[in-house]
Amino acid sequence: MAMNIKRPNGTEDVLPKDVHKWLTVEKITRETAESFGFEEIRIPTFENTDLFMRSVGETTDVVQKEMYTVMAKETKFTLRPEGTAGTIRAMLQNGLLNEAMPQRVFYILSCFRHERPQAGRLREFHQFGLEMAGSASPCADAEVISLAKTILNRLGLKNIELYINSIGCPDCRKKYHEALRAYFENRKDELCETCMTRLEKNPMRILDCKSPICGEIAKDAPLIIDYLCDECSEHFEKLQKYLTKLGIEYKINPKIVRGLDYYTKTVFEFVTTEIGAQGTVCGGGRYDGLIEQLGGQHVPALGFAMGIERLLITMEKQGCDYLTPKKCDIYFATMGDDALEKAMMLAKELREFGYRAEYDVVGRGLKAQMKYANKIGAAFTMVLGDNELAEASAKLKDMESGKEVVLKLDEKFSGNFDSVYIDKMLDGLEEAAASMTEGHEHGHDCNCGCKEDCCNG
Ligand code: HAM
Repeated sequence: MAMNIKRPNGTEDVLPKDVHKWLTVEKITRETAESFGFEEIRIPTFENTDLFMRSVGETTDVVQKEMYTVMAKETKFTLRPEGTAGTIRAMLQNGLLNEAMPQRVFYILSCFRHERPQAGRLREFHQFGLEMAGSASPCADAEVISLAKTILNRLGLKNIELYINSIGCPDCRKKYHEALRAYFENRKDELCETCMTRLEKNPMRILDCKSPICGEIAKDAPLIIDYLCDECSEHFEKLQKYLTKLGIEYKINPKIVRGLDYYTKTVFEFVTTEIGAQGTVCGGGRYDGLIEQLGGQHVPALGFAMGIERLLITMEKQGCDYLTPKKCDIYFATMGDDALEKAMMLAKELREFGYRAEYDVVGRGLKAQMKYANKIGAAFTMVLGDNELAEASAKLKDMESGKEVVLKLDEKFSGNFDSVYIDKMLDGLEEAAASMTEGHEHGHDCNCGCKEDCCNG
């Protein structure tokens, strides 16, 4: 019987034609994080299940409903549902928290959550995230929010709102939990089964339950922001002052509580309304108790993660630019075995120069080879046959303009190809500059460098 195995629900294939979009996001996130002093960390795809139970929290949806867990011999392992727990575990285990503070790390990784798949919600998804350990100051909160905002700007994204809230410290939380219990007690019987147990153990988790009935009941629940202690209020106010100073627009959304247990004080989300219900492209906050909870000293920390798929959906929707995908620089079309061997040697040389060089490895005729070169968008082609070998020179054809130049097939071949290639790039730039000047609308002040009176450039 023919095999017809499809990819699992909630996973995605990224095809070669789309990889440059991922590379764009990876490059911009990585470079921006580095410019803020963050260094990359890589952690295992799976961890001991206990790590997530203790950090993400036993009463969260992630732990209760969404983890992929396997029993291997006597030990339970879980595919990471997020990056913070593993990153903090790695920082602790490798002594990073004994080094100069603050420690700043970022990661790009896959996460696994057994959720109901829909647009922007996957079972395997990818995050760019970062964590900063060793600062209790609201200035650090402003710094990571500013980093997230810079990334969104550099990706060319627009209309993404920043929502902030404070969910206080364990002290404010005690009074708040009492108020929540009193509120939900009246409609206890209508809550889903999971939320009934949450009511006792961790009533705040009812606020982010995905059941529509629990959501409806929670609509008028008390807000944590009304229960903040003086220190938490002051922290939140200072954060707002710094955001204003940095020119970052925000809205306070007292309903944001985040779905993970480790948060304290500041929480935030960047949300777009343009990609449907799953519009949170970035979520994060402070978690001052987590490191201690995982066996370390008391080290205040914070961070965020962005969903790469959600960023890409939004970029596509908004027509953002991507890095140019790399195409074939030169394709050698060959006739006969001697020509093929020559092509192998020339391609090898050009690849040393960093060029993408290809030749026929299938054994097709000349016409089919040229058709293939066209299909893959080769910038240049060169036909090699007995004549070219005998004359030790061949025509290099620019596939866009149709122009041809003859290149000697000697030891200067790569250097000569390099010159032709650079000339083509410069021509392209000149043309682009000329069309920008031609297309320029005059009669107003500009700085474009054109020769018109209106130009200040
Ligand atoms: P999170 O809000 O659970 O936080 O996830 C962060 C981001 O990952 C979300 O805003 C969303 O863009 C993306 N995401 C989450 N679940 C899915 C899914 N099923 N499909 C597609 N994208 C998804 C965390 O994971 C925290 N560890 C963030 C953090 C870092 N807080 C402090 N440091």
